[in-house]
Amino acid sequence: MRRITTLIAVSTLAVGAATAQDSNELSIDGAPMVTEVAAPAHMENVDTIYSGWRFRSVETQSLEMDDFDNPAFVFVDKGIDLFDAVDGSEGKACASCHEDVAEFAGLRTKLPKVQDGELVTMEELVNGCRTERMGAEPWKWSGGDMTAMTALIGLQSRGMPIDVAIDGDAAPFWEKGKELYYTRVGQLDMACSNCHEDNYGVMIRADHLSQGQINGFPTYRLKNAKLNSSHGRFKGCMKNIRAEPYKEGGEKFKALELYLASRGNGLSVETPSVRN
Ligand code: HEC
Ligand code: HEC
Repeated sequence: MRRITTLIAVSTLAVGAATAQDSNELSIDGAPMVTEVAAPAHMENVDTIYSGWRFRSVETQSLEMDDFDNPAFVFVDKGIDLFDAVDGSEGKACASCHEDVAEFAGLRTKLPKVQDGELVTMEELVNGCRTERMGAEPWKWSGGDMTAMTALIGLQSRGMPIDVAIDGDAAPFWEKGKELYYTRVGQLDMACSNCHEDNYGVMIRADHLSQGQINGFPTYRLKNAKLNSSHGRFKGCMKNIRAEPYKEGGEKFKALELYLASRGNGLSVETPSVRN
């Protein structure tokens, strides 16, 4: 089913032998996570979906298994401070209206979602409250304040299965995202699917290719020692194939986010995950 021809054809990318997914199980502070499950019905070319955690080294994996070891929690703590911090012309904090961040349990599993005809992401819900309800400046999409907050809110859903809607109002956005996923771009003329669908499990430049799931975002990366948004990650992958990345927060990345989220329907939310 999986082909490595595309990658072999690309001379600049070193490809090693395919390796099977690890069979180890993830539990975080004792709570079991689903890292492998039957693919959702809409996926035609993949039978089983796997969390990106399954493709990481044992050392990286272990960092996610205990919140004391997980470097992302420094940023989650910052999110807690921001939640209580007054900002903007209305003199309000998030906590002025949202009594407890725990009220957002489950929200991360449903995003992005369509609201009043528009596809909305977690970042937009947060910034909507900042600009419209607090009279505060919007946070930068992948900035430290935003990723701290999206990690804190996402954490409230940890262990719950991703469950984004792809039908009804969401269908046109989903179709758009699907098209982008399979569209070849850049000097290397590759699509997301060429790596994350056709070749997951193989080694690429000493990195173990995953299915490109987003159930763990925002994710702490050892590479840059900070939380990374999903759009930031998409941008990085586009740069690696020497394509002009789409805009963070733009319609294309939002549609791609919905489509990728739907390819992970059934996996546990792992926010905030740890990757290399
Ligand atoms: C002045 C009151 C107010 C403030 C301050 C406020 N919010 Fe909201 N927020 C609301 C209301 C009202 C809604 C819409 C109703 C709802 O879903 O709770 C909302 C919705 C949301 C949602 C979407 C919930 C959903 O289920 O779709 C998120 C996420 C959110 N707020 C986060 C924040 C964060 C983070 C802050 C601080 C940066 C903040 N809010 C500040 C009143 C506020
Ligand atoms: C040349 C191969 C290649 C292409 C094409 C590619 N990626 Fe990646 N991507 C990688 C590698 C390598 C990694 C890091 C290892 C891993 O998690 O797969 C990665 C990681 C990711 C991750 C992080 C997964 C996690 O568990 O944290 C996401 C999300 C992702 N890619 C999305 C995309 C999207 C969206 C596209 C298309 C715009 C794309 N990638 C195109 C090679 C690729």
